[in-house]
Amino acid sequence: MAISLSYNNNHPKKVGIIMDGNGRWAKFNKLKINKGHEKGVGVVRDVVKECIAQNIESLTIYAFSSENWSRPQNEINGIKKLIVRAIDDQVSELKKQNVMLDFFGDLSNWGDEILGKISKAENDTFEEHPSLRLNIALGYGGRNDIVAASKRIAEHLKSDLISSDDINEDMIAKFSQVPDDNIDLIIRTGGDKRLSNFLLFQAAYAEIFFVDKLWPDFTRDDFKKCLDAFKKADRRFGKRIED
Ligand code: IPE
Ligand code: IPE
Ligand code: MG
Repeated sequence: MAISLSYNNNHPKKVGIIMDGNGRWAKFNKLKINKGHEKGVGVVRDVVKECIAQNIESLTIYAFSSENWSRPQNEINGIKKLIVRAIDDQVSELKKQNVMLDFFGDLSNWGDEILGKISKAENDTFEEHPSLRLNIALGYGGRNDIVAASKRIAEHLKSDLISSDDINEDMIAKFSQVPDDNIDLIIRTGGDKRLSNFLLFQAAYAEIFFVDKLWPDFTRDDFKKCLDAFKKADRRFGKRIED
């Protein structure tokens, strides 16, 4: 079979990352689990810098899934503390870099302190023309997002704000909690080859790269390699591309 050598010369515009492997990194280094999550926050800073350098429009990161609520309470408490600390320490730097923050997911279980911090961080970093939109999935699950979007559309139907003919892919994307549609590239670290309920609707035609490194070991250089590999992907979107 002929191997296609066509290149898409574009950079990915919208990138998603499943930042997996913090727990294994902590275990390997004989540290408490939350030290792994802490190290992981530092990696996000480096990847954000590279996104800005490479003119990426949006970076959507999976920080905590709807299923992660079933983790031990002390791990969840540690993650909550880390979120507060990350917002306190990093919003001013992100603001200087013109990065706009957007948290999404089912935010109802995070408590008032975190909700207050999130909404202040979003307001403080609001930009008409940001250098990067940084979307952070917190308590997000792709399936329950689709269920929630369907319920909202049903409410609009019931109140005659729309008719069933109006329902299309754009509307579902609009009613979804996920800030961005049509993700170009998804990277998952940690070696597992699954989506774990991330961006089920938005990743329909994403290139998906699985990287063996654990998230705390992932570097700016590793990220650059993924972006370079993306450029070599032959994105056909179902079409027959004639030679
Ligand atoms: C990903 O790392 C971060 C979260 C899910 C919060 P993990 O904590 O899942 O790391 P592993 O997979 O156990 O190594
Ligand atoms: C996916 O990782 C969620 C995040 C990275 C936030 P998990 O560690 O929760 O996924 P599974 O359990 O390996 O599928
Ligand atoms: Mg994991």
